[in-house]
Amino acid sequence: MARHIDCNQLTFSLYPFAHEMKMYESYYRDGQWDGGAIVNFHEIRLSPAANILNYGQGIFEGMKAYYSQKGHVVMFRPEENARRFEKSAEKLAIPGMTANKFEKAVVDLVKANIDFIPKSDDGRCSLYLRPVCIGIEALLGVRAAKEYLFYIFGSPVGPYFDKVGIVKLIAKDINRASPHGTGDAKAVCNYPVTMRPKKEAIAQGFNDVIYLDPHHNKYIEEAGAANFFALMDDGSLITPPLGTILPGITRESVIRIAREIYQIKVIERDLSVEEVVQKAKECFVTGTAAIITSVSDIGWKGKTHNINKNEYQLANQLYDKLIGIQLQKENDPFNWVRIIS
Ligand code: PLP
Ligand code: COI
Repeated sequence: MARHIDCNQLTFSLYPFAHEMKMYESYYRDGQWDGGAIVNFHEIRLSPAANILNYGQGIFEGMKAYYSQKGHVVMFRPEENARRFEKSAEKLAIPGMTANKFEKAVVDLVKANIDFIPKSDDGRCSLYLRPVCIGIEALLGVRAAKEYLFYIFGSPVGPYFDKVGIVKLIAKDINRASPHGTGDAKAVCNYPVTMRPKKEAIAQGFNDVIYLDPHHNKYIEEAGAANFFALMDDGSLITPPLGTILPGITRESVIRIAREIYQIKVIERDLSVEEVVQKAKECFVTGTAAIITSVSDIGWKGKTHNINKNEYQLANQLYDKLIGIQLQKENDPFNWVRIIS
């Protein structure tokens, strides 16, 4: 019997009844992956010497399944998550993780958890899927593991940030990722460095942190779990270039919507915090969890700068279009929506 899921009660946290849901798991041993299986949600047993626990060989993804306005279960560009997972795996020397294996597992798991997809007209609630792949071989020397676990679990979720749709960010001269490092992969090792700055940001009354470039400590890279955009006084929309940041699927979708649907001039270039606090009329962040969230204020060098000359108009317009496409309320001109059932 399906549980009633009240969208208004959902936050971005693990569902308390996750144990009633299904998960997917597949093991890599003796040089090959098994066929994978859908099983009951369960805890994982690991050796204390497992690679992931000592040396952090692990990658993950984040994606969502929705009930669309047409009554279908849909996902948004799952092939892009599959491609990114494959690339992240290559970067961390995880063998044989193909986009095909990933996509089939995700679709099978969504079908197995259909009762846990919350219904929501505005896209604020959905079934979040978390694919993870970790090195599980017990070892002591630092090297790639010879055994892996690829698993996916799901959770009905609500908005990522407490104050729906608007956040206060603080720019800190802290670098998440270095050039030629792992910043462009969705690797677990990119996140520990964000724990302390985020805790401090919250204690200072902000919701999250803007991380800066590792060369000059002045150009914006991204927020803790989302990419950054600024609408400047001259009407151009600027977002930091790819390189050390995560190539967000929402980022790329927003760039295309802005350029191709609204004919906005979008430029991927270095963007200093100074320029943003002086010349931006609107800022927002994008991500699967964050969707499109407006930034009301940016803390920088001891001052808090209000960035809202445009009354969040562009973020709202892009949000409505993106969610409209994702929920099949509108045409899907880019063929982004995948019908699962
Ligand atoms: N940047 C970071 C560090 C993230 O963790 C995420 C979330 O996945 C994003 C950006 C946004 O990426 P996407 O739009 O693919 O979810
Ligand atoms: C997502 O947006 O799906 C993410 O993975 C962000 C996460 C780190 C909360």
